[in-house]
Amino acid sequence: MNVVYSECEIRGLVDKWHHNNLTVALVPTMGALHEGHLSLVELASSSADRAVVSIFVNPAQFGPGEDLSEYPRNPEDDIKKLGDYGVDAAFLPTEDVVYPSGFATKVDVTGITDTLCGRYRPDFFSGVATVCAVLFRIVRPDFAVFGRKDAQQFAVIKRIVEDLRLDVEIIAGPIIRESDGLAMSSRNRYLTPKEREQACGIYHGLICASEAYHSGVADTKVLKQTALKEFEKNDLLELQYLEIVGRNTMQPVKEIDGTALMAVAVYVGKTRLIDNVLLSSAD
Ligand code: PAF
Repeated sequence: MNVVYSECEIRGLVDKWHHNNLTVALVPTMGALHEGHLSLVELASSSADRAVVSIFVNPAQFGPGEDLSEYPRNPEDDIKKLGDYGVDAAFLPTEDVVYPSGFATKVDVTGITDTLCGRYRPDFFSGVATVCAVLFRIVRPDFAVFGRKDAQQFAVIKRIVEDLRLDVEIIAGPIIRESDGLAMSSRNRYLTPKEREQACGIYHGLICASEAYHSGVADTKVLKQTALKEFEKNDLLELQYLEIVGRNTMQPVKEIDGTALMAVAVYVGKTRLIDNVLLSSAD
């Protein structure tokens, strides 16, 4: 596996692959890789001839008081995992590679970022959109793979690709869960054993609402109450938001007509976790 740090090195590799008519898929990550990331890596490898994984803890997407300094960083472990997964290149740019001196651009997506996480993390999506636009321009992949756990992030990325006519196809990876249903996240490692035990209550709440939906309840107020009742069984879960929104618009809906997304953000102790479930009549 190639481990590269500079724009020039990753460009050289991708240009060489493209010159040989090989397609390239990028998985952007912030490292601290877990099985959820590795499932995206598998998707990248099966979608393109070459798979590149970027690891960059992007300061622009952390607000004041968020966990930028504590965010887990294990580049050696990550590189080993990626090597074992047959990744072709790991790209670990430093901050000055992504944001060279004088960098002054922000990519701001409106509308879909007004709700859910966007209400509580005002800088988050412009940080994500900006870094992804830069990574797409540096790496120039044919495909880029993102997980559905970050559903609003996924909608933002799709939007910038369409609006800025970025020449990359976005591929969605499913949410990967622990055996008790907790969605995999790099932040799960912050949880104490007691918090970890209760954290799976998030998934149980979503599943109860999904079951109610499939048994004929379409009123989103009732569905939210169903999930809340389940969350409340766990005294360490502190809800930040629970919403049912259009899958692409991210705007709240009252009645589900076809497909909608139930999305939640919860504090478990000091750790903020997000999760979601698709409520779809097609399932
Ligand atoms: O989902 C993440 O890990 C990050 O938000 C991303 C997409 C790598 C951008 O920094």
